[in-house]
Amino acid sequence: MVQTLKLSSPVVWVLVLVLGLLSKVHGSPVDFQAESGEGFQVPSIHWRSNAEGRQAVWLRNAEVLSINICLLQDDEVTVDSVRFSRDGNEQEAVVSIDGQEVGSFNTTGTTNGGLQWNVFNNTETVFDTLPLTAGQHAIEVTLRNATDSWGIEIDQISVSFASNATLADVSCEELVTGSPEATTGLPTEDTTAEGKEEVEGKEGGEIVEPCSDESC
Ligand SMILES: *[C@@H]1O[C@H](CO)[C@@H](O)[C@H](O)[C@H]1NC(C)=O
Ligand SMILES: *[C@@H]1O[C@H](CO)[C@@H](O)[C@H](O)[C@H]1NC(C)=O
Ligand SMILES: *[C@@H]1O[C@H](CO)[C@@H](O)[C@H](O)[C@H]1NC(C)=O
Ligand SMILES: *[C@@H]1O[C@H](CO)[C@@H](O)[C@H](O)[C@H]1NC(C)=O
Repeated sequence: MVQTLKLSSPVVWVLVLVLGLLSKVHGSPVDFQAESGEGFQVPSIHWRSNAEGRQAVWLRNAEVLSINICLLQDDEVTVDSVRFSRDGNEQEAVVSIDGQEVGSFNTTGTTNGGLQWNVFNNTETVFDTLPLTAGQHAIEVTLRNATDSWGIEIDQISVSFASNATLADVSCEELVTGSPEATTGLPTEDTTAEGKEEVEGKEGGEIVEPCSDESC
């Protein structure tokens, strides 16, 4: 006979307590969905029923998947794993931070007439702790010397922060809608670029107010 556990049962509360403690002890990696990244065209987002959020990003030779993070403070970052799939040759993928290679992983060559694209696998830890300063950084994945034109698909990238920062903490959107210059050290967007071009374009380089209407 199956006995249903009541919420008031001590067993339930002990379970809740143990699970709570465990999740604290291990911290929790932040999962960045590839489809929320940048650097690819919308048609590269593929629907995959086994992908987290049911979407993965198709990455082929020379294409870059870029995830922007905005750190509120100096931090230490570890890329715990990349969840990927492939249906083709073995590939070597490179993980970079701000354009500098920090790790790589190899996929095995496996094909199954296209069905293998829906079989996702996690890499081991891609690289150990790397210190990063407060502000904006890009975590990038790209293929090295792609061995076929099919490439790989990336579902998500799991990253942990020594500060225990959460997805919301490092989301650049949060900062942009908040107060970017406040205390974040976030490099402010170069809003002067247009204005500078304007100045260079004119003889004598007189100061020109950055354009704010349609006349420019
Ligand atoms: C991946 O494969 C390449 C070429 O075979 C090799 O040089 C490289 O060390 C491998 N990388 C990893 C992380 O195993
Ligand atoms: C998943 O990765 C593990 C360890 O890297 C490997 O042994 C296994 O063959 C992989 N599975 C698939 C389906 O690629
Ligand atoms: C792999 O790509 C690099 C550039 O990223 C290039 O310098 C190198 O020659 C390539 N290696 C092979 C075996 O094609
Ligand atoms: C992050 O969480 C771990 C595990 O709970 C804890 O040991 C550590 O002190 C926390 N780090 C910070 C900076 O809060």
